[in-house]
Amino acid sequence: MSHNILITGASGYLGGSLLASWNQANLPPYQKLYALVRNEEQAKAVKELYGAEPVQIDLNNESDIKQAIISRDINIVYWMISASEIRVPRIMIQALADVKKRTGTDAHFLFTSGAKVLSSHTGSPNDRPLLDTDPGLYELQRTADGPQPFLNTGARTNAEVIDIAESYGVRSYIFVPCIVYGRGEGFGNPISIQTVAIVRAAKRMQRMYTVDDSSASWPVCHLSDNTALFLDILRAILSGQIPNYGKNGFYLAASGSVKWHDLFGAMAKTLVKRGVIHDESLTQADDAALEQMAPVLQGVKSFVPAEIGGHCTLTAVNGHAIGWKAKYPPEHIFELAEEEVDWVLAHS
Ligand SMILES: NC(=O)c1ccc[n+]([C@@H]2O[C@H](COP(=O)([O-])OP(=O)(O)OC[C@H]3O[C@@H](n4cnc5c(N)ncnc54)[C@H](OP(=O)(O)O)[C@@H]3O)[C@@H](O)[C@H]2O)c1
Repeated sequence: MSHNILITGASGYLGGSLLASWNQANLPPYQKLYALVRNEEQAKAVKELYGAEPVQIDLNNESDIKQAIISRDINIVYWMISASEIRVPRIMIQALADVKKRTGTDAHFLFTSGAKVLSSHTGSPNDRPLLDTDPGLYELQRTADGPQPFLNTGARTNAEVIDIAESYGVRSYIFVPCIVYGRGEGFGNPISIQTVAIVRAAKRMQRMYTVDDSSASWPVCHLSDNTALFLDILRAILSGQIPNYGKNGFYLAASGSVKWHDLFGAMAKTLVKRGVIHDESLTQADDAALEQMAPVLQGVKSFVPAEIGGHCTLTAVNGHAIGWKAKYPPEHIFELAEEEVDWVLAHS
């Protein structure tokens, strides 16, 4: 059975790191690896560094997207661009269905979302571990109605991806990264999201602020473990296994969780050493502090609590069925905090 794979977000933190691990991953045979790029420089990088065939697609043009996938018989797409985009994923799924119909080979669409959409921010339960195999996740996503409207939309996007893929006979996988830390390994963006937000907010305020009480925790994952799950799903597909998909296809990579306050404490130590803040204590953010932090984050005061806090009890189980296991325990993020802070300070 031949597989042609398209990786998007090739210059991103997650997508670039996935490509950087590709040649050591010892994947089962496949026909061709393609990488979506936006310019000549990226095209050269994916070709020379990873041996991927660059593909430029005008994502505003439906027929361009379809043609790009159909003409290359692409039957596996990893979407790693935006967790709130549904227009392009819908078109890609339609094109995958076309390839499936013509070639008779199963088609797969992996959509990268985020753990935020399965947290207190979207009204997901957090009084118990929420397994990524929980049969209720799809319904939680479809009906998400938490305090963060943007993330509720992201949750419903996941449900939509599942519905669209199911209606076209394409297998969907919803990958929900948590706090991913570690040096980016690709040629493009070297830094993550949440640890970056913590550093930026502290730098702006010259203090470490918290938006939660000390009980709030979040799953964490070293970048290499996160990449390993992307690869294990692919490995399972290429070797003819049937990894859980559709309404049962939520995948989290995480070895466990840490308390936000402990993470802030670990990162504050380095920020003090580097003179970015003056003491390690945590201050509860009030309205004025949220207002001041917003411009160095995504710019919206009401969204700051979703960028540097929240409760998430999502727990990784699904990946274990296909052989995935994290190498690093959750506390590893504390050991690496100094390096992470320095890396973020150097690159943001
Ligand atoms: N990093 C994390 O810890 C984390 C956690 C949870 C969820 N996620 C989600 O995972 C996804 C990837 O995250 P990331 O950290 O890898 O993000 P990133 O470093 O910002 O990478 C985004 C990638 O998407 C590409 N891209 C953006 N807009 C595009 C467009 N219109 N057409 C084609 N390509 C486009 C970028 O290309 P250019 O370089 O050309 O801009 C880049 O390759 C995002 O949806 C993010 O929300 C990430």
